[in-house]
Amino acid sequence: MEYQIALLKGDGIGPEIVESAVAVLEKTGKAFGFTMAFHDYLLGGAAIDKTGVPLPQETVDGCLASDSVLLGAVGGPKWDDLPANIRPEKGLLQIRSILGLYTNLRPARLYPALAEKCMLRPDLVANGFDLVIVRELTGGIYFGERGRRTGKYGPEAYDTECYSVMEIERIARVAFSAAQKRRGKVTSVDKANVLESSRLWRETVHRVAEEYEGVTVEDMLVDNTAQQLIRNPAQFDVIVTSNMFGDILSDEMSQLTGSIGMLPSASLGDGTRGLYEPIHGSAPKYAGTGRCNPIATILSGAMMLRYSLNQNEAADCIENAVDQALSDGCRTRDIAGPEDTELSCTEMTKAILQRIEL
Ligand code: IPM
Ligand code: MG
Repeated sequence: MEYQIALLKGDGIGPEIVESAVAVLEKTGKAFGFTMAFHDYLLGGAAIDKTGVPLPQETVDGCLASDSVLLGAVGGPKWDDLPANIRPEKGLLQIRSILGLYTNLRPARLYPALAEKCMLRPDLVANGFDLVIVRELTGGIYFGERGRRTGKYGPEAYDTECYSVMEIERIARVAFSAAQKRRGKVTSVDKANVLESSRLWRETVHRVAEEYEGVTVEDMLVDNTAQQLIRNPAQFDVIVTSNMFGDILSDEMSQLTGSIGMLPSASLGDGTRGLYEPIHGSAPKYAGTGRCNPIATILSGAMMLRYSLNQNEAADCIENAVDQALSDGCRTRDIAGPEDTELSCTEMTKAILQRIEL
């Protein structure tokens, strides 16, 4: 069995971290008896430089012909002044939408070995936490009507948050199914005290909840959620929310685990093809320094094995190797304490490779 995997390395540290994940995937595949063929395609700033657009047609075709897609990161100061429709980020939004990936899973748990790097007081995370944000990914304000016009006070700009019942229902179903396999609790995050789209969100989520036995649902306003994540992250199991709230809350959440360099994500649709990427950005400051943390991308590779290729044991194996490397004290810059020896991206990758075994 050979799986076809499209690689969208992107910009900044993207190429380095994707190379790390590929090395880990290759070794894991060997250990579990399957192979993967990797195909590079351009996305983001790298694509703009070569073709003039952030998402060339060849990339779209390549992704559509693959079993799954692994992405590094896009963007950087070099492309910041381009018009909105040819910015690197636009390519990322387009590929998510073209592949129909309306679900974004962003899990976070406290690694006991990294407890000291967690930004919270130790007593607040004494029992750890393990939550997943289910972010709606192809709707809401990211894709709503936008523009410039002349208003009451002169030139103005607007963006629109719009959700259909269908879009809310399908993401709610993902959240409830996920909760059934976890601890059975869904927190639906909105701003229903102000926004009409949130009121529809809330109503719809509750209607869908009735289809799911053994799952409880609670509503939480997004501002309150921002503080509850810090006050008591262990109260959450599955958080389901809109595109923009999910974007913001997942960056907040990353600080609970110690570093944004640790968090993977899976973008999924109705089929098995998914797009897997770290939640962090392209970190242009660290590009080429060899000092970035490959773990978020390596764990994204593990999610790919689990959700797209149904290779659950291989996915567990990668996750265990990461756990082991961390408990053995392996640390990249972002998770190193003053006493730790800092490993480079390549050294961390080697440390994880060494811990991959049957
Ligand atoms: C993310 C990123 C993207 C987003 C940007 C780069 C468009 O922040 O994946 O969280 O907002 O979705
Ligand atoms: Mg983000």
